[in-house]
Amino acid sequence: SFTPAAFVEESIAAIKAKVGAERVVMALSGGVDSTVAATLIHKAIGENLYCIFVDNGLLRKNEFEQVMEGYKHLGLNVKGVDAKKRFYDELDGVSDPERKRKIIGRLFIDIFQEEAQLLTGVKFLGQGTIYPDVIESVSVNGPSVTIKSHHNVGGLPDVMQMDLIEPLRFLFKDEVRRAGRELQLDDIFLKRHPFPGPGLAIRILGAITPEKVAMLQDADAIYTQLLRDTGEYDRVWQAGTILLPVQSVGVMGDERTYEFTVALRAVTSVDGMTADWAHLPYEFLAKVSNDIINNVRGINRVVYDISSKPPATIEWE
Ligand code: XMP
Repeated sequence: SFTPAAFVEESIAAIKAKVGAERVVMALSGGVDSTVAATLIHKAIGENLYCIFVDNGLLRKNEFEQVMEGYKHLGLNVKGVDAKKRFYDELDGVSDPERKRKIIGRLFIDIFQEEAQLLTGVKFLGQGTIYPDVIESVSVNGPSVTIKSHHNVGGLPDVMQMDLIEPLRFLFKDEVRRAGRELQLDDIFLKRHPFPGPGLAIRILGAITPEKVAMLQDADAIYTQLLRDTGEYDRVWQAGTILLPVQSVGVMGDERTYEFTVALRAVTSVDGMTADWAHLPYEFLAKVSNDIINNVRGINRVVYDISSKPPATIEWE
């Protein structure tokens, strides 16, 4: 069985032994995995850990700023990189989900590599890979079919000859959270829902524009805040909004509108491999729908996804 205190103590000792006086560079995502991994490495080697957090313009509303603030509190040495424009430019006109993933994954690696090369003499790459990432990347990325290219696995920049430090490689998500609690991390990290590396790019079906990102961020922020206010946030595994490439007729005052539809997704799950749609209360859904339609310009219809995985995946792309 998993004992957080023992795990923390042993992994810090193991990192110390492996890294010695060398330096480690690591990309942070704001998620619980990379934060717990970075905290363990930081406890082991202190200022020899250098972290990079890339703003790809596809995060939740205000997330970059909030997460940077959280990292500062943890004492991590983090460089924030504003790469929004580079991501939007390269994604311009791209609607195929796997192409989006490839572009985002490659660009992320390019930027990380550029930043890492500014540091000299770094021998190790820290990663927050957890056990399900390892299994899923093996099972879905077989030799002939790639269902999804999870860019946080196998994302080692190949021109950099660095050894991996992956303290969470054998842990499940709940164990990562328990380790994080042992490390006294804040709930903003520990209870944070999983969020895909490609971010809102795979929650905007079809081509991405900065305007669509802003629209979806606003809708998502309303949904997330109401989930938090009602305590539903902690009862679901993951939740988010999806912007559909569908416009439909509505009426506002005397005017007919022709605007976008947002789908709400919320699932319960143990590990993300299977998931059930969350049975959120009708009154809650009614309020989310009203608040989104009344406050987010360009959206006149909200639907709720009642599909379970399998066969429906959690994300829509
Ligand atoms: P699906 O949609 O496959 O998602 O049911 C399962 C879990 O994986 C996340 N996900 C991703 N994470 N890169 C990631 O880092 C991706 O390309 C990606 N696609 C899905 C999803 O949010 C859910 O937690």
